[in-house]
Amino acid sequence: MKAIIAAGGKGTRLYPLTYSNNKHLIPIANKPLVFYPLESIVEVGIKEIGIVYRNNLDEIKGVLGNGSKWGVKLTYIQQKEPLGLAHVIKISKEFINGDRFVYHLGDNIFVNGIKKPFDIFNSGKINALVTVIHHKENSRMGVPYFDRKGNLIEYVEKPKNPPHDFAIPGLYFFDSSVFKCFEGKSAIKPSERGEYEISAPYQWLIDHQYVVKTVEYEGIWKDPGKFNDLVETNMVLLSFKKDFLNKGKIDKKSHISGDIEIGKTSRIKGSTLRGPLSIDEDVLIKNSYIGPYTSIGKNCTLINCHIENSVLMDGVRIENVEGRIDASLIGRNSQITSVNERPVSHSFMLGDHTKVIL
Ligand code: DAU
Repeated sequence: MKAIIAAGGKGTRLYPLTYSNNKHLIPIANKPLVFYPLESIVEVGIKEIGIVYRNNLDEIKGVLGNGSKWGVKLTYIQQKEPLGLAHVIKISKEFINGDRFVYHLGDNIFVNGIKKPFDIFNSGKINALVTVIHHKENSRMGVPYFDRKGNLIEYVEKPKNPPHDFAIPGLYFFDSSVFKCFEGKSAIKPSERGEYEISAPYQWLIDHQYVVKTVEYEGIWKDPGKFNDLVETNMVLLSFKKDFLNKGKIDKKSHISGDIEIGKTSRIKGSTLRGPLSIDEDVLIKNSYIGPYTSIGKNCTLINCHIENSVLMDGVRIENVEGRIDASLIGRNSQITSVNERPVSHSFMLGDHTKVIL
């Protein structure tokens, strides 16, 4: 069994962060987003994983390497244009080489792992399997349609008026019959928006009488593809995190409570920290109140400030900010500082698509 992870696409929903960052490398609970799908796959024992990327191979390879960190072999597959999730399958044919495979979207997180659907796919003669969840906003997702007996008969991408609240998240299972949907006269075609949708190969398999099953995912599923979802996913992952290691230096004037992870060489002076909280290496926190549900990247400096429920990427500097910074996502090397001059004024240097709420 092999696996592929789709880590290409455009990342437009996370502008401006994705102008300079690959969306899949944005840290959540201080771990790059793509680590979560990768670790779910590693957990079920798959050793050969294809990473589908669009550009900047060096950037993603610099973070994931050859997979030896997880005891697996990573193969990088370029998708030059984001032509859709089924196109990702098409270009992975050589890598899959006749095997059965798991297909995990690189921006989806199955917080409780993927063992149950994986075991079901392996337990019978199934050509393809979809996972389904309940989701109230399923009109922005793939939606399954069932017959009276509960068999999957149709798979529609982002329907306007779904008849129920079932949705199909980004975890798919196939055997190599799926590659037949790209061949000959009945080959699948791009949708109206010009993409080879993931619904198309499933629909092709259903229409050609292959065995396509569904399984309900009973754990927590997250798609941190938009600003609010990312901040919320960070909170959820911190609340489920188990391995909090505190290697930092905390002075006697500081107070800490709850689960807190602090990287080595980080210093906490005269501050209150409330977990769950993840602080990476080389961070200085002085006279501040930080947490809960906050992740702070490497090399950040936080002085005289109050931050909750937020994600701060590497190199952020926040100094002398009155009031609480809440539910925020702050990109690499950003600075928020305040000067004690009258009249009080605001001075900004903001990138495209930046959002400021004062
Ligand atoms: O999040 C679950 C939803 O993901 C499903 O319910 C939908 O059926 C499925 O189509 C997908 O919808 P999205 O609109 O969220 O897909 P998005 O374009 O954001 O792409 C999902 C991931 O796949 C993301 O990590 C980028 C990557 N991707 C996307 C495309 C279109 C690729 O690697 N190549 C591509 O061509």
